Parts: sequence; C-alpha cells; structure tokens
Amino acid sequence: MASIIDLSTRIATNTTLLNTYLTEHNLPFPSFDISAPIDLLPPSTTPPEILSARQQIINDTSALHNLLLGPREHIMSTYQPISMISPKAITQFRLVHSFPVGSETSFSALAAHAGISQKHLTKLIRHGIVAHNLFAEPKPGVIVHSAATKLLAENEGIHNWVEYATHEHWIASYHAVEAMRQYPGSGEPNNSGFSLANQTDKSMFGFYSTPGNEKRLERFAKVMRFITRRPELGPELAVDAFDWKGLPEGGKVVDVGGSHGLVSIELSKNFSQLEFVVQDLDESVVRGAESKMPEEVKDRVKFMVHDFFTEQPVKGADVYFLRAVLHNWSDEYAVRILRNLIPGLKRGSKIVVNDVVLADVGTYKDKSAELWARVSDLTQVVLQNSGDREIGDYIKLFEAADERLKYKEAKPMPGSTRLWIIVAEWEGTDS
Ligand SMILES: C[S@@+](CC[C@H](N)C(=O)[O-])C[C@H]1O[C@@H](n2cnc3c(N)ncnc32)[C@H](O)[C@@H]1O
Repeated sequence: MASIIDLSTRIATNTTLLNTYLTEHNLPFPSFDISAPIDLLPPSTTPPEILSARQQIINDTSALHNLLLGPREHIMSTYQPISMISPKAITQFRLVHSFPVGSETSFSALAAHAGISQKHLTKLIRHGIVAHNLFAEPKPGVIVHSAATKLLAENEGIHNWVEYATHEHWIASYHAVEAMRQYPGSGEPNNSGFSLANQTDKSMFGFYSTPGNEKRLERFAKVMRFITRRPELGPELAVDAFDWKGLPEGGKVVDVGGSHGLVSIELSKNFSQLEFVVQDLDESVVRGAESKMPEEVKDRVKFMVHDFFTEQPVKGADVYFLRAVLHNWSDEYAVRILRNLIPGLKRGSKIVVNDVVLADVGTYKDKSAELWARVSDLTQVVLQNSGDREIGDYIKLFEAADERLKYKEAKPMPGSTRLWIIVAEWEGTDS
C-alpha cells in the first residue's frame, strides 16, 4: 500500500495536470454550485490521460482518506445505514420538484409538500445537505438547490434511479444475506433478497410483470433505460463492438430481452442493410417502446413480446444478441435461455453476448474498477439470485447448452470499461 506521502504527492501531480487542462480549455472547475456542469469532464472529448489523472485522484484521495481514518473510524464511518434515508425521502416526496431551480424555499414549505412534520423534514434535509450535497442551506432556514438537486429536478432518469436505489434495491440488499442462508446452492431466481423482501414466490421479473405492479415495473424499465444511456454503457458503443457491416443485405438481428430496443435502434441507424427484432417479456414495455420508435428506422426495427424461456420464434437470424440478459440468470437458467435459441439457429448464426465480465483477481486497472465489478456482481445476486461471470464461465454455458454451439471469441467492448462481447457460433445444421 502506498504511503500517505506517496499518495499526496501523486494527488498533487495529477491535480495540477487536471487544473491546467481545465484552465487552458476554459472549462468550469469542480463544484456543487447550482451552475456546475453535470459531468466535470465530457468523456467523449477529454484526452485519456486527463480522464485517467482524474480517476487516479479519486482513487488516491479515497485511499488517503481511509488511511487517515484508521481501521476503527473507517469502519464506524463506512457502514451507515442512515445514509440512504435522506435521498429516499427527497425522491419519495419529490422535494426537488417542489420549488423552482434558482429560487429558495423553507423547511415549513417542504414539510407541507411532503406531508410530514417540519421537525422530521428539517433533520432529513440537513442530513441530505451534509452527506450528499442534496440541497444547500446558505442561511439558516433558507433552502436552495445544489447542482445535485438541480440535476434530480431536471433529469427524470436520475431521479428514478435514486428512487429505485433507495426503495427497491436497498431493501432487497438487506434481505439478500438471509436469502443466501435460507437457500444455499440454489439457482432459483425467486430465492433472492428481492423476492424475500417482497414476500413473493416470483422472481423479480415475474413480480414486476404481475398485475398491480405496473408502476414499479414502469420505474424499473425507466431505470434500465437510464442506465443503458450512461456514457460507459451507452447503446452507441455497440456500433463498433461487432462486425455488423459484415452481415449480409437483409441480415437479421434478434435483440433478445432487448427492453426498449435502444441498442437495436442505434444499430439500425448505422447499418441500413440490417433488420432487427426486439423481444421482451412484458407487453407494456414492448408496446411503449413501439410507440416511441424514430420514424426513419420504424420499418427495420420490429418489436415482439417473447418469453426467452420458450422456443425462439424468429428462425434463421444471423445474430441473436443478448445484452445484459444472461447475468440476470443463474447457470441453469442461462443454459435454458441459450437452448431455447437453438430452434431458431441456422448454420453460422451467431449468439452475441454483450455483458459484464469479471476479471481475474489482481488484474483490475484500479480499485474503483474492481469495486464497480463487485457491486454489479452482487446486484445480480440480490435481485435475481444470479451473478456476473468470468470468460471461462461463459464458455461453459455454451458447452452446456449444446456441443454444436462453438465459442469463438471474447473481447472488451471498445469504449466501454465495463461490458464485453462474447461470441459463439452454431456449427450444427439449420434447425
Ligand atoms: C437488464 S435488462 C437488459 C435490457 C436490454 N438488453 C439492454 O441492454 O438495455 C433485462 C431485460 O430482460 C427482460 N426479460 C426478463 N425476463 C424475460 C423473459 N423471460 N423473456 C424475455 N425478456 C425477459 C427484462 O424485461 C429486461 O428488459
């Protein structure tokens, strides 16, 4: 582990580099003031060495911070269940929408909006300010927006994400350890923290699709759409991830579990020779996505309600694409998903998996990269009793599905620090 002097020297060097870049390019300096930009540095136009300097500062300041706390204070300050309570209240009561950005409000007005006592509201907001930069209190009793609450007020996607995190994900995570204890070795998706928390015998996806849960399904679908659009996971990254150009005129791609079809829409705009079928389980998600299709690709991107645990109805497509689908399912279920594709496959059809891949221990670029992977992995455990996989695990899935399904290659998706492309090809006869 680096010493505090090494860390602080590296922080100073990298901060100088970043500061010079911001100054020379006339860019705003880091801030949570209301005028601050959403992202400090635009990822698409910032040189990699500047992005890397920023990341290094983040890693090193966190390491320095923890070292200076020491083990006892580090533990006491890290595990704070209270941390989620203020963002939960702020999103649940939609407080960021209760007064315009740029104006001010009072605790009594916020309490009236939320329908809770002013005493409780004040405690929640003051925690949100100090713990999360949610709102600011420039003078006692006067509440204004910060850059963070401005973002929540203006971006429904991120508002949904915080609401989902502090309502659904939080309580599911709490129950996950008990689910592990109750169902050791189970690969059943309903033996999860999510199912335990919701006292249901259905998996998360089954639960959301149950009548009465429409609002929660809608929120989950919006969260998925928001996550899919993040720069490190964006649908545009799929364009260079595979040799789509090499597919023939009229070539067909089936986007299995494709949700709102954001990736297919992006690909269709770039590869005019291709046709797409986006399949998803839920009728309302599929119909909603269909109604919002961009006019220019409407003819080449079709939607279909399809349960991937039943036989694939689209026969002879060139590619069956599964993005962020297999990691939702344990091995036994993932093999069933792959087997159900087989009746659709022709000789040479490819199964293209676009998913998170866990790296070998000790090979992560830095601690934040590893932490992201561990969080992603455990999230799948919590929600669906599944988990992320290493490359070798994917190869085993293909082998278990059918010996004629041959693993071809795996590579990190260009431009993404998180997702990989894993390709298998059908070497049997046309099904
Ligand atoms: C994590 S999301 C990924 C969505 C999309 N591929 C993307 O990358 O944005 C998983 C998707 O699988 C869908 N799904 C879950 N169970 C399904 C099933 N049995 N059949 C078809 N789709 C299903 C969900 O509705 C959801 O849209």
